[in-house]
Amino acid sequence: MCGIVGIIGEKPVAARLVDALKRLEYRGYDSAGVATIHDGQLDRRRAEGKLANLEGRLSAEPLAGNIGIAHTRWATHGVPNETNAHPHFVEGVAVVHNGIIENFSELREALTHEGAVFLSQTDTEVVAHLVAKYLREGMTPRDAMLTTCNRIKGAFALAVMLRDEPDMLMATRSGPPLAVGYGKGEMFLGSDAIALAPFTNEVTYLVDGDCAFVTKSGLEIVDLKGNPLHREKQISQATAYLVDKGNHRHFMEKEIYEQPEVISHALANYVNFADKTVGEKAQALDFKSLTGLAVTACGTAYLAGLVGKYWFERYARLPVEIDVASEFRYREMPLSPSQAALVISQSGETADTLASLRYCKELGLKLGAIVNVRESTIARESDAVFPIMAGPEIGVASTKAFTCQLAVLASLAIAAGKARGHIDRAREREMVRHLAEMPRIMSNVLNLVQPQIENLARELSKCPDVLYLGRGTSFPLAMEGALKLKEISYIHAEGYAAGELKHGPIALIDEKMPVIVIAPYDRFFEKTVSNMQEVAARGGRIIFITDEAGAAASSLSTMASIVLPNVDEIIAPMIFSLPIQLLAYHTAVFMGTDVDQPRNLAKSVTVE
Ligand code: AGP
Repeated sequence: MCGIVGIIGEKPVAARLVDALKRLEYRGYDSAGVATIHDGQLDRRRAEGKLANLEGRLSAEPLAGNIGIAHTRWATHGVPNETNAHPHFVEGVAVVHNGIIENFSELREALTHEGAVFLSQTDTEVVAHLVAKYLREGMTPRDAMLTTCNRIKGAFALAVMLRDEPDMLMATRSGPPLAVGYGKGEMFLGSDAIALAPFTNEVTYLVDGDCAFVTKSGLEIVDLKGNPLHREKQISQATAYLVDKGNHRHFMEKEIYEQPEVISHALANYVNFADKTVGEKAQALDFKSLTGLAVTACGTAYLAGLVGKYWFERYARLPVEIDVASEFRYREMPLSPSQAALVISQSGETADTLASLRYCKELGLKLGAIVNVRESTIARESDAVFPIMAGPEIGVASTKAFTCQLAVLASLAIAAGKARGHIDRAREREMVRHLAEMPRIMSNVLNLVQPQIENLARELSKCPDVLYLGRGTSFPLAMEGALKLKEISYIHAEGYAAGELKHGPIALIDEKMPVIVIAPYDRFFEKTVSNMQEVAARGGRIIFITDEAGAAASSLSTMASIVLPNVDEIIAPMIFSLPIQLLAYHTAVFMGTDVDQPRNLAKSVTVE
């Protein structure tokens, strides 16, 4: 998604704005721009592609000025080129925007009818034209901004700068996040606290419908009617360390290898390693009285939820209704206040997931949220927040957030099973002990499988299609493996329930398409081996991801067998995530794709 930054102060801003944009690169973008006011002049530099191109423009033609706004654009309306890059200018009005102006067509038509000339294909440009129009009609900047905000519809975060008002930035949000940062003699705007981290950790998060007027000495927030509002100043959790890849080639690789460490942070928040019990934070929902859970999320977070469904239903006998967030609220499934909603979102800003949370709120459900960003909108609007403690995840493809989501879901499922009388003290101790072993096992597995997977990935990078198969909690893992591979290597991949093979996918099997089978030696193992035999009988090439017991139990010849240690079923999904993450990562590296910022993808999809 797009990224917004702004600075108003007493020092030159252009270079610092671009540095701040670098901290938003993880959100995905295809062009960028920066605008400043200096000596009464509004000026800008914009460039298609990566920020390096914008920096090239700036070094060739520097921008002076102590007030500025900047933007990384993820194209929604209009191709990614310089003309469509933000900031957009109209008569001394400069605008940057994240989101979608849903009524932009009718506004564009009305404004064109009044003589406005549009230079871009973007929806954003109508905002600049509206502010300019209201200023021309004699409104104050504040009224011009408020009137504009009341006229546009959709999901938007905006930063606006006026040539004739060089001591003020204006901002608003309705959907995509926007934060204000406090400095010494200067103030900041940013799409999230990560962008502001190099400047300050004192931030105020705007709430939907807020309109902010920012000067270098402070901030005034009003609602869309102009009534003053007070918003808390918070200390942001985002820290400056995240831009550092350490000795890794990509953020994704760094984040894969961070998992042993961050999963221990996640677990420490929910279980007591000493007495092997689940902690009170895992009991923030009254599982005992609930008749069910309604789980919703998108992408990888949804697949974590699918694993969680198996656990809640198996260990706590708690029915789970689950769907991807873009379908969840439109199905009109029968939900009641006796159920709780449990949304899962790394960013805490995904539009569909946020909308589903609000849908459940209207139906009177208690709201639980498993998030990685505690200050996120989803967290702020939930009753019970379960942080996954993964630290900022920069790679667009989610890795450490996924396994930390699973660790939290496992802790909650144990807490639910205990509360509902299905897990006794001994079983609780045993399950928590397995969770506690994860960091060590993950660390061993990463070192164990890395060399073999790197070689295997070279083969995989030549394949146009790949099929992943799994049963039980390995079925969502099969889908996650396929999602990882397709989103960073662009190879077509599908994840299927192994039992579904004969109901269609077996038609795909031939010697050209690898079949990756995820099968720990669990209660489904024999059935999955039968599926493997069906694949082998048709010349299919099998990559077998199993454990020592599985390798010993199957004599089937395979293209490759990745053998992990024997682990308990409650941690198998986290452990078996590692080879599928590494397989996708190394395949993408061989393909030469942009691993951290794959084409067309955004880290946080803040529009529907
Ligand atoms: C995962 O690798 C993808 N980048 C994507 O599917 C992601 O999981 C999805 O967009 C949900 O994001 P969220 O967890 O921030 O809500």
